Amino acid sequence: YTVDWDVSSVETGQYEHFMLKEIDEQPTVIRNIIGKYQDDQGQLNIGQELEGLTVPKRIYIVACGTSYHAGLVGKKLLENIARIPTEVHIASEYLYAKDPLIEKDSLFIFFSQSGETADSRGVLNQIKQQGYRTLTITNVQGSTLYREADYKLLTHAGPEIAVASTKAYTAQIAVVALFSIYLSEQQGLEGTIDMFQELRTISIAMESLKDMKEQAKQIVDDYLTGHQTTFFIGRQSDFDVCLEGALKLKEISYIQAEGYAGGELKHGPIALIEDGTPVFVVITDDNVAKNTRSNAQEVKARGANTCVISAKGSEEEGDAWVLPKVNPLLTPLVSVIPLQLISYYAALQRGCDVDKPRNLAKSVTVE
Ligand code: AGP
Repeated sequence: YTVDWDVSSVETGQYEHFMLKEIDEQPTVIRNIIGKYQDDQGQLNIGQELEGLTVPKRIYIVACGTSYHAGLVGKKLLENIARIPTEVHIASEYLYAKDPLIEKDSLFIFFSQSGETADSRGVLNQIKQQGYRTLTITNVQGSTLYREADYKLLTHAGPEIAVASTKAYTAQIAVVALFSIYLSEQQGLEGTIDMFQELRTISIAMESLKDMKEQAKQIVDDYLTGHQTTFFIGRQSDFDVCLEGALKLKEISYIQAEGYAGGELKHGPIALIEDGTPVFVVITDDNVAKNTRSNAQEVKARGANTCVISAKGSEEEGDAWVLPKVNPLLTPLVSVIPLQLISYYAALQRGCDVDKPRNLAKSVTVE
């Protein structure tokens, strides 16, 4: 397939690794996306890509890894803004699902940075044969998932070289947020938010986090040194971002990390908490802040060393990192950055190959 860019010519510039460069590129990518999808009158300019797409009764998001985690955030955006029931599926699982019940008038959305992931391509082939409509949100124009889907939206994140996906995750969320606005406008729904304004606010918040690298390094020193297992806990969108933070840490620092719903720990996994176990607690959603704070107390009472990442307005004394407050539906775009940086510095501290972690490939083109 042809791609937009010659990957071999991409340089790390003043950065030691592509991953840190790509983390820092995220605010620019969000501004890129605004530029690409907003017309001169400030309106959403997405229609030509979606010519003929009618509003589906149900949406199925299919993806792998980090793109699957972006899909979890996409679900909340599609359901809250476009009011369309949305399911999110791991591609390799859905590929072998036994006669799943599928709404006739549905749309399958494939999230994929590379557009070449075999598990996702397998589902796309299957779904097209069954006559369902498909949309791909990808970073690579001309990739298989891009070419073979009925509809396509590009994330315009530029080349993502590091195996650990960062800017593709935030770019996918921004694009599905705009797609949610499109579906809401198609239905004439009232009270839709000004997504371009929200994304500009996000980009500014992301920029402010660029100066927090020392803080991330300190957190790695204070919480992760000498530890080989850790938890990331949160609720709602904070849980979604915990899954992504845990994957990042696992795949580049090789620390066993588990993202868990804060309310679920007491149903078993809390047995794993020992004296000093590092537990990252993400609390940006006011609706569940109280509940997650009590989950933090639960694990602390059993010896955990809790590192709380909260947001302005619901922060408390002792929180390790207080993030700018943004729209609750978009908080993962901001709360993921501390988790990306913590993973990066943990990998550095352990002498791991940050851009090319062992056993991994940038695009998994085998099932
Ligand atoms: C992300 O950090 C991983 N490298 C991996 O989980 C990746 O997200 C997954 O393989 C899906 O790739 P895709 O987005 O290119 O389909």
